[in-house]
Amino acid sequence: MILAKTEASGGARLLPEVLAFTSSLSLDRALLREDLLGSLAHLTMLSRRAIVPRAAAEQIKRGLLQLWSEMEQGALALPEEEDVHMAVEAELTRRLGEPAGLLHTARSRNDQVALDLRLHVREQAAEILAGLAALLELLADRADAERDTVLPSYTHRQRAQPISLAYLFAAYGAMFARDAEAVAFVLSQTDALPLGVGAIAGTSLPTDREIARELLGFSRLTLNGLDTVGDRDFALDYLYVAARFFLHASRLATDMVDFTSAEFGYARLDGEIALGSSMMPQKRNPDVFELIRGKTGSAIGNLVGLLATVKGLPSGYNRDLQEDRRAILETGPLARGALSILQLALPRVIFDRDRCRAAVEGDMMQATDLADALVRKGIPFRAAYQLVGTLVRRCQERGIPLGAATVELAREVDPRFDAAVLEAANPLASVGRKVSAGSTGPSSVQAQIAELHRCAEVAREQ
Ligand code: ARG
Repeated sequence: MILAKTEASGGARLLPEVLAFTSSLSLDRALLREDLLGSLAHLTMLSRRAIVPRAAAEQIKRGLLQLWSEMEQGALALPEEEDVHMAVEAELTRRLGEPAGLLHTARSRNDQVALDLRLHVREQAAEILAGLAALLELLADRADAERDTVLPSYTHRQRAQPISLAYLFAAYGAMFARDAEAVAFVLSQTDALPLGVGAIAGTSLPTDREIARELLGFSRLTLNGLDTVGDRDFALDYLYVAARFFLHASRLATDMVDFTSAEFGYARLDGEIALGSSMMPQKRNPDVFELIRGKTGSAIGNLVGLLATVKGLPSGYNRDLQEDRRAILETGPLARGALSILQLALPRVIFDRDRCRAAVEGDMMQATDLADALVRKGIPFRAAYQLVGTLVRRCQERGIPLGAATVELAREVDPRFDAAVLEAANPLASVGRKVSAGSTGPSSVQAQIAELHRCAEVAREQ
């Protein structure tokens, strides 16, 4: 029997095909826990406000707790219904008879589903935040251990300036620290109780939404019921933040894929995280990082899907919103999966310090330092930039790195080059010369590492 039908809606008749098409039970049975929790809180409110007699409330409560324990044992079979909310009520009715019908007093599935989703997002976001805190610690520690490893940095995927590997890890850390802040924002957006607004306009019964708010641990009530039943902003924020976390993870992944290739040769994957080829016996593939990048597509798809679902809906509840389910439910496991695998994989990317250093020594990436040295002698930057460009060209013609340029060669370009200026051509000293805030210079990197630890601490305290 389909519970949510009356004579007015055509009686108990419903084509099985229509039920199959409209049902969300296959997805939202994942929200059973949340649904039972919400029902228990709602029931308590109804009982305390004497809307439901105490004895009946006790009986329903025992019924709900029985469902809960069967759920925990994996022994709860739900009847075919439109969704998890109706399935729970139908099962309760099967067991308790008519008194089960008291539970839905002053409640609609519209506020019920909004509650279940907020409870779900709140829990998942908290777990993602904990994962981000652990990742921040890992990156800070990894950075700490690689302060003296120098390697090229890239703009346009062309060698740019020497950096420390610590600085690179701290850069990923800075991205994930922003994600942690954004997850905290998601938690604050989610932290409003939707339950009790009913289908759209509230109720004439003497309910008290504050009771359920307190029981379910929300810090405020949603403001307006008409908005509440059609509001998925908290879910959009959640999906956006998850997608943005994936963007960051994906960029890190691309670096790891590149750096572990023979073309770069900066790092090697430990055998525990490398995959092979079914045909080519020599392969050592970075599938883990490629899949982080690949799953980013799913995360973005979930966000775009929900945006498209909500766009153009009229105010109030619309059944289209049921299509939010897959995107929302998929996102937690997707993000948590990526966070866990990053924590396993990152320590197993072993950088080859000698190859990294050789890449710096054999190139011209300290050219900007050389220009800065001329600037210190009073030469305008644009002129210094041109002079160093010419010197680089001369080195290229001779097939030598910039660090091997002699004073004689430099003087051929301009007499203002001298031994003191050419000291800035030492590529390995380039990192140590950086002094600006946020730079790869050692004292800035030290501060960045400390900040990552602080952000991890803040994330853990949320
Ligand atoms: N299954 C619906 C959903 O998930 C529940 C709300 C249905 N409300 C209604 N008035 N038909 O969105």
